[in-house]
Amino acid sequence: MNNRRDLLKTTALAASLAAFSSVRRSFAAGKPKYTNIIFTKEDPGRWKGKESIHAPQVTITGSKVVVVTDHPMSQEHYIVRHTLLLADGTFVGAKTFTPTDKPESTYDLPYGYRGRFYVSSFCNLHDFWLLETKA
Ligand SMILES: [Fe+2]
Repeated sequence: MNNRRDLLKTTALAASLAAFSSVRRSFAAGKPKYTNIIFTKEDPGRWKGKESIHAPQVTITGSKVVVVTDHPMSQEHYIVRHTLLLADGTFVGAKTFTPTDKPESTYDLPYGYRGRFYVSSFCNLHDFWLLETKA
């Protein structure tokens, strides 16, 4: 079971990094979004109807960002990881979950940061969800 979890964590991290890299290039180039590859509340693709429990939600208080995915957690189906990056790709933090964790994580933005940032939430069954927002 640990090997499977390690594989999921590794896969989630690789997917997160690849997706963030692609999203940065995509936004910069004004290209269309990645329907059915990267999921958002506005573009849930083949997971339409599952947005409310997969799209990450953020609460910003000063420089503190709390990320929550309102998703049930079980051994078979759970949120694997959250990640937060600034608009320029600067990695702020990530948290990997086990099926018994609550899918909530907290990050500190750089002092005085004002601008866009990206938050992802990866479900082991419903893929990679992204939120673009700003401080
Ligand atoms: Fe899910």
